[in-house]
Amino acid sequence: MSLLTILLQVPFLPEQASSFAQEVDMFYLSLWALTIFFSVAVAVAALFFMLKYRRRRIDEIPEQVEGAMALEITWTVIPFLISLFIFGWGAKIYYQMYTEPKDAMEIYVTGKQWMWRAQHPDGIREINQLHLPLGKRIKLTMTSEDVLHSYFIPAFRTKADVVPGRYTMTWFTPTKAGTYHLFCAEYCGTQHSGMIGNVIVLEPSEYQQWLAGGPKEASPSATGQKLFASLACNTCHYDKDGGRGPSLAGVFGSQVKLENGTTVIADEGYLRESILNPGAKIVAGFQPVMPTFQGQLSEEQVLQLIAYIKSIGAQEGAVAAKPAASPAPPTAKASPAAPTTQAPAAQGGQKKD
Ligand code: CUA
Repeated sequence: MSLLTILLQVPFLPEQASSFAQEVDMFYLSLWALTIFFSVAVAVAALFFMLKYRRRRIDEIPEQVEGAMALEITWTVIPFLISLFIFGWGAKIYYQMYTEPKDAMEIYVTGKQWMWRAQHPDGIREINQLHLPLGKRIKLTMTSEDVLHSYFIPAFRTKADVVPGRYTMTWFTPTKAGTYHLFCAEYCGTQHSGMIGNVIVLEPSEYQQWLAGGPKEASPSATGQKLFASLACNTCHYDKDGGRGPSLAGVFGSQVKLENGTTVIADEGYLRESILNPGAKIVAGFQPVMPTFQGQLSEEQVLQLIAYIKSIGAQEGAVAAKPAASPAPPTAKASPAAPTTQAPAAQGGQKKD
C-alpha cells in the first residue's frame, strides 16, 4: 500500500473532492499496479527462460515435459481469486454509488443541447454551474429535454448518463472547497464539447450567502403547486379520497395497487409516466380518464409537479418501507359510475397540508 500512497501524490489524477474520490482512485491504482506487476513478471520470466533454454547446439533435442498439475492449479486459482477480489471491490463501490442516499439535499438537473440547468431546493436556478455546500450529501435527479447526455464531475469521480424519458440519479458528498470541471461525457451533437461548466463547492455559510444573493424564485414544489392548480389537476386529485383520480397525498414512496392486480412503488419514474402517459398504469378502482400532458410540459415542469407531489406526502410518504401506513389506497370508494359533475364543485379544495 505504501507504493499506492506515493502514487496518490502524483498529480496525474484530478483533485479528490468528494467522498468517493479516494476509494475510486485506490481501486483504479490497484488495477494499475496489478497490471504492471504481472506484465513485468511475465516479461521477465519470458526473457529468463528464453535465455536459459536457448538452443546451444544445432542438433539439440529438448527434453519432453509431461505437464505439472500443481503448477496448473496454482496459475488457475490465483488469477481466479484476483478476479473475484476485483469484482467484489468494484461491485461494492458501484453499489454505494447507485444506492439512493438518505437525507440528501436534492437538486434537479436537466440536460439540453447544449447546456446544463440545475434547480436548488429553494428555487434558485443556474446554468452550466452548480454551487454546492461543503460536506453535505447531495443527490442529483436528472433528465434530458432532448438526447442522451452524461453528467461528469472528474474531481468527484462520478459520472451518470442523463437520459430523455427517465430519471437517473447520482450522489456525492463534496469534501473540499474549490471550483471543479463539469463535463458532458456523452456525444450529443455539434456543441457537445462546449457543454461544460463549473462545480463550485462553498463553505456552508458561503453557500447560504450565495443562495441569499440569487434572484428570489419559488421552490420547485411551490412552482409545482401552482402548476397543479393551473393545469386543473386538483379538479380530479383531491387531498383526500373521493376524486375521479386517486388522492396524491402521501402517494410518493408508497406502494400503489394497479387495475391489473400488480403493485408499483410510486417513485419519480412512476409519477412522470403517470403525468405524460396516464394510460400506462391505471390505479385499481379508477377509470382511465386522465388526459395526457405529453408535449405540454417541459421536463423541468414535470420535475416541479413531482416535487409538489412529494411535498404533500412528506408526513409519512417518504418511508417506503412500511406500505401499510400509506393513506388508504383508493380502491374502496370510487364506484365506476361516480358522478362526473361533482368534480368542478371541488375546485379550490386543494390545500397544502
Ligand atoms: Cu451533452 Cu454531450
